[in-house]
Parts: sequence; C-alpha cells; structure tokens
Amino acid sequence: MAYKIGIDIVDVADFKRSINRTKSLKYKLFTSHEIDYCRKKGLEHLASRFAAKEAFFKACNAGGISWKDVEIRNIESGKPEIVLGKKAKSRFNFSLIEVSLSQTGKNAVAVVLVDYSKK
Ligand SMILES: CC(C)(COP(=O)(O)OP(=O)(O)OC[C@H]1O[C@@H](n2cnc3c(N)ncnc32)[C@H](O)[C@@H]1OP(=O)(O)O)[C@@H](O)C(=O)NCCC(=O)NCCS
Repeated sequence: MAYKIGIDIVDVADFKRSINRTKSLKYKLFTSHEIDYCRKKGLEHLASRFAAKEAFFKACNAGGISWKDVEIRNIESGKPEIVLGKKAKSRFNFSLIEVSLSQTGKNAVAVVLVDYSKK
C-alpha cells in the first residue's frame, strides 16, 4: 500500500463573502448535487466540500482537474465519499479514496487519503 494525504481548512466567513460576492462562483466550484445537499444544511457545508476538493488536490499533487470533477456525495449513513468525474478517473487509478469533513460556523475542514498502489 502507498498512501498520500491532503488537508485543508476554510474560514467560513471568508468563504461566504466570496460566494455571495461572485454569483457564478458556486456553480463553477460545485455540482448541482453538492449545492442541493448544502441548501438546507448551510454554506459551512459547501465550505467543507471546498476544503475536500483542495485536500484531494494536495493528496494527489495535481492541478488541472476541474473542481466539479471531484464530487462529494454522502452515503446513507451520512459518511461522505469522493466520486471522480470521467477526466479525473482516467488520470488517477486510486484503489482507495477516503474523505472526512467537519464544520463549525467559523471553520470547515477536510482530510483526504488516497491509496495509489496498483489495483
Ligand atoms: C456523524 C457524526 C460523527 C458527525 O459529527 P458532528 O460533530 O455532529 O459534526 P461534524 O461537523 O464534525 O461533521 C459533520 C460531517 O460528518 C460527516 N459524517 C456524517 N455522518 C458520518 C458517518 N456515519 N461517518 C463518517 N462521517 C460522517 C459528514 O461529512 C458531515 O458533514 P456533511 O453533512 O456536510 O457531509 C456525529 O453525528 C455522531 O457522532 N453521530 C453518532 C455516531 C454515528 O451516527 N455514527 C455513524 C453510524 S453509521
């Protein structure tokens, strides 16, 4: 096994200001599934998804991947998972991706682990 990790923290007030200032930003960064999930839960949940995307980019040491090609979805228990879009999937061949999120009104954090040993 060969693991890499990434972590990111987001200041929720700064994030809210950016999202409210630039109306197109939300749609550039997040899929409709992510926006729908966070609509009732609050913008801090979108902030933790932003942190998760940044943490994923750190873990795989990669740029040039579209924000929306890294989607955070929750399974029935509430546990979040990262679902890669077509382009990201063809670029990476991870045998495992794990993500964990946490948020308060002030900060949102995410940790991502990838296993890049061959499947
Ligand atoms: C799940 C739990 C750990 C969340 O902790 P919290 O302190 O309330 O909230 P945090 O801000 O730290 O974390 C919230 C995030 O936890 C994650 N989460 C929720 N359920 C989860 C689960 N079963 N496993 C892993 N992560 C989970 C989600 O990503 C959530 O954010 P999101 O809704 O934006 O995706 C908490 O509700 C808990 O301890 N529940 C009791 C135990 C439990 O239900 N375990 C799951 C049994 S299947």
